[in-house]
Amino acid sequence: MSPKTASNNQQSSIRVLYAEDSPIDADLTMSHFMYEAPEFTIDIAGTGEEFLRRLKEGSYDVLLLDYRLPDMDGIELLKELTALGVKLPIVMVTGTGDEELVVKILRFGTSDYVPKDANYLKTLPAILKNAVSDYRARQERGQSLATLRYHILYIEHSPFDLDLTTCHFAEAAPHMTLEGMDSAEQALNRLRGAHDFDLVLMDLRMPDIPGLEFMHRIKQLGINLPVIIITGKGDEETAVATLRLGAYDYIVKRDNYLTQLPYAIENAIARFQLNNANTRLHSELVELNTSLEEKVVLRTAELQQALERLINAVGTTIQVMVSAVETRDPYTAGHQIRSAGLARSIAEEMGLPQEKIDGIHMAGSIHDIGKLSIPAEILSKPTRLTELEFSLIKEHSRKGYEILKDVESPWPLAEIVYQHHERMNGSGYPRNLKGDEVIMEARIMAVADVVEAMASHRPYRPGLGIDAALHEIEKNRGTHYDNAVADACLRLFREKGYQLVQA
Ligand SMILES: [Fe+2]
Repeated sequence: MSPKTASNNQQSSIRVLYAEDSPIDADLTMSHFMYEAPEFTIDIAGTGEEFLRRLKEGSYDVLLLDYRLPDMDGIELLKELTALGVKLPIVMVTGTGDEELVVKILRFGTSDYVPKDANYLKTLPAILKNAVSDYRARQERGQSLATLRYHILYIEHSPFDLDLTTCHFAEAAPHMTLEGMDSAEQALNRLRGAHDFDLVLMDLRMPDIPGLEFMHRIKQLGINLPVIIITGKGDEETAVATLRLGAYDYIVKRDNYLTQLPYAIENAIARFQLNNANTRLHSELVELNTSLEEKVVLRTAELQQALERLINAVGTTIQVMVSAVETRDPYTAGHQIRSAGLARSIAEEMGLPQEKIDGIHMAGSIHDIGKLSIPAEILSKPTRLTELEFSLIKEHSRKGYEILKDVESPWPLAEIVYQHHERMNGSGYPRNLKGDEVIMEARIMAVADVVEAMASHRPYRPGLGIDAALHEIEKNRGTHYDNAVADACLRLFREKGYQLVQA
């Protein structure tokens, strides 16, 4: 370790190369860091030249520069570092300075500027740490300090202006490199090839291609760069035309225009980048929306297909059940078909959605499926049923529910079957459900079931006729039967000529 090196913790140390010619300041800094910030390792260089040599030999995390060195000042050293392509974070300390110097120093992409006041040593470790962590964060984001440096294509026919502006930028805005060209045609050729320009700065009155024509040409070529037009003799009309063509700025060569220029360039590049980011974001959003819409359409189609498959499967299952009932009990089979048809018509008359109508019809065609479990002799008994026999028959709702409850279906088939003998006032069976507890599909099924059962012949009695059936519905409207369902049923028969399908 060199005698001018302070380090207590090699493993996680932050390596600093410090250009400082004053031995007192160097010693003070070393001992302060030794005790207060031992995580730093500091190498001291007494001159600019030694600093550059050590930088080439060693590996550092951050550079600390005293502004005044015996062989060069801070700005000169910064210029050397820029020329060498050094991209490390740099912090400048100085005993004397003013606002102009600060701006100059920071324009080099320097991380921070610290005046040597009474407390500067206390704040220095934190400032250096910040500079290092900012730099690392930028590197992680894929940026380097180099992205803060700009390459400008400068098209100017006057050799005097070309020189003046280039010199001004070297001094006032060293982070901007101007590549001067005295012909617009030549500049166009340069832009057609590979390049890394951030902006085009152009004199309006180029002899070969005037500014407005040039802007048209780069647009046609698809060259996407911000352009700033400068002119010796401005007029409002040209300014408007230039800006309408997409120029980012229009600057008249007045007394202080050179001072304005770096700010105008930075501003234009920032706006250009913002516009690009906005465009990118917009197209990403459009793309995202489109792909989402496509996914939704695809998903909807998939769901629709799945639903159709399910409906077909349920339809097949129901058909098997209908056939089973038909074989065992033709009376019940006919009743189911006719009451299912009536239930569907009532639902349509009430204006229910199609999927509900389909569910009601499907459930209706097997609503008495539970009767399969009741002894045939009871079902077809021509005489009056005993109380016990009737209680067995009443079980058919629950049995039907048991048969259907595991059938995967888009409709509440099992529940409709379970509830088709419930009544609005709770006098029905098997659960004595009331009002809203009875689902609409079951309320419709109940009315259709009663009307069909009363109107048709039964093994134990002749049909009572449709008028008697409708009278029953009218009489118990609101108590046994849902008002709207009863009304729709009565309308169908009395006003719309509905007839039960004959078996
Ligand atoms: Fe029934």
